[in-house]
Amino acid sequence: MSQVTELKSHPLVSHNLAILRNKNSDHHAFRTAAHRLSLMVIISATESLRTIEHSVETPLKTTHENVLAEEIWFIPVLRAGLAMVDVGLGLMPDAHVGFVGLFRDEATLTPKHYYKNLPDFTSMEHDCYILDPMLATGGSSCAAIDLIKSHHARNISLLTLISAPEGIKEVFAKHPDVSIFTASIDEELNDQGYIVPGLGDAGDRYFGS
Ligand code: PRP
Ligand code: URA
Repeated sequence: MSQVTELKSHPLVSHNLAILRNKNSDHHAFRTAAHRLSLMVIISATESLRTIEHSVETPLKTTHENVLAEEIWFIPVLRAGLAMVDVGLGLMPDAHVGFVGLFRDEATLTPKHYYKNLPDFTSMEHDCYILDPMLATGGSSCAAIDLIKSHHARNISLLTLISAPEGIKEVFAKHPDVSIFTASIDEELNDQGYIVPGLGDAGDRYFGS
């Protein structure tokens, strides 16, 4: 499949990216722009969710609407992925949340795994949304996908705010079945593994660290 959806052409996405990227945005401005962008990315990613027809009685007559047919799982990659969870739960209060804890070793740029809390997905009809604002080398996303797949997850999408072309290529090379939804595909990585133009360190800026 190897499908990437970029939302930057939407004026609201571009407007909020400008706030997110601005080095003078304080953590309150950064956080609220991250939430607005997460909302747009999650709405786009859930456009093709499977539904079943459901009859509903309005005060006037019986009609039909399509309701969600599967268990929805949000899986934030700690820490920065936490920025996107409440937005997802606001839209889908019945969704479940699993966790993967990873940090990138600053010298080697390789992900170090320190935590997970995931179910066995084998007998569950489900859709998994991995949440991480930044896809840089792709090491962390691939490690998160490996872990989730080791719990037999299927229908996996990766939702990010900013992605580097190098990271997208890496994810698709290792996991061609995963779809990526992102607000922006940026230019490149610099030699410290930061996305350019990017926004700096997403976790530090979101949490005001
Ligand atoms: C950031 C980001 C991703 C990762 C991306 O996390 O949230 O998880 O870097 O880089 P990669 O694609 O090169 O692996 P970081 O390791 O800074 O941890 P944090 O979320 O705890 O700040
Ligand atoms: N992680 C971040 O937070 N920012 C980058 O540019 C790359 C990885």
